[in-house]
Amino acid sequence: MKPITIEGVEKRFGERLVLDAIDLTITPGEFVCIVGPSGCGKSTLLNVVAGLESASSGRVLVDGQPVTGPGPDRTVMFQEATLFPWLTVLENVCFPLTLSGVSALDARARAMDMLRLVHLSRFASSRPHELSGGMRQRVALARALVGRPGVLLMDEPFAALDAQTRDAMHIEVQRLWLEFKPTVLFVTHNVREAVELGDRVAILETLPGRLKEVIEVRLPRPRDPNDRDVNILSARVNRALKDEIDKVMALERDPDKTGPGIPPRGAGGHI
Ligand SMILES: Nc1ncnc2c1ncn2[C@@H]1O[C@H](COP(=O)(O)OP(=O)(O)OP(=O)(O)O)[C@@H](O)[C@H]1O
Ligand SMILES: [Mg+2]
Repeated sequence: MKPITIEGVEKRFGERLVLDAIDLTITPGEFVCIVGPSGCGKSTLLNVVAGLESASSGRVLVDGQPVTGPGPDRTVMFQEATLFPWLTVLENVCFPLTLSGVSALDARARAMDMLRLVHLSRFASSRPHELSGGMRQRVALARALVGRPGVLLMDEPFAALDAQTRDAMHIEVQRLWLEFKPTVLFVTHNVREAVELGDRVAILETLPGRLKEVIEVRLPRPRDPNDRDVNILSARVNRALKDEIDKVMALERDPDKTGPGIPPRGAGGHI
């Protein structure tokens, strides 16, 4: 578990200012969720922390070291499980270990342990296409955690799953996070998911993306999505988001307002 420090991060794509002066410190082992309207810069911020995008100004430190590119200390998990279709489930989970020089025997043992933790050891010899979407995401989670990364970066990892599978994944993630305690940055447009999983929920405003508010979630774990306190906090986050969503909707009604700092037409209106 490693701290992440985001210091005055600004990101421009050409003329367009997408992220403006983002400051956020995530303490070791903390779980921080980022919510905000579509196109506000959530993925861009995560990609800057991952080192997949560089900041136009400002910097990100992981464990005190400036991020200059992707690194094995930060594992990234995206919406679609990016498994290698030609490898078995076990080989997929072994992959990051063998890449970092762990012996094949050791890697297999550790990958099997991880597969047990996500209840998929029976499928070790299957290929990804033989699994359901939820099972594939559990393999991706096992692969993300097998190297015990200090930092786990997740960009809407469960958005493509049906509601029941997503609920099951939330239980898995809470359990695994409590066991391994990586520092997590989790991007989602699902407010309830953010409140259920996060120690804090950071709300990004749009046009350009700025940190609007950070809400602490002091609720015991594991959390239930139907819990009264989860509902109350979700309503509070939704209220904070309403102005931002109105901004995006107004833009979609009147797209001629586009200019620097404003997302392109059809940036989507979900959240
Ligand atoms: N590589 C890129 N080049 C140019 N513009 C980009 C690039 N990546 C993102 N953008 C723009 O930056 C803005 C923020 O995009 P980003 O993907 O970070 O939004 P988001 O908050 O993750 O949205 P969503 O909830 O829809 O995933 C958008 O207007 C997008 O068009
Ligand atoms: Mg995104």
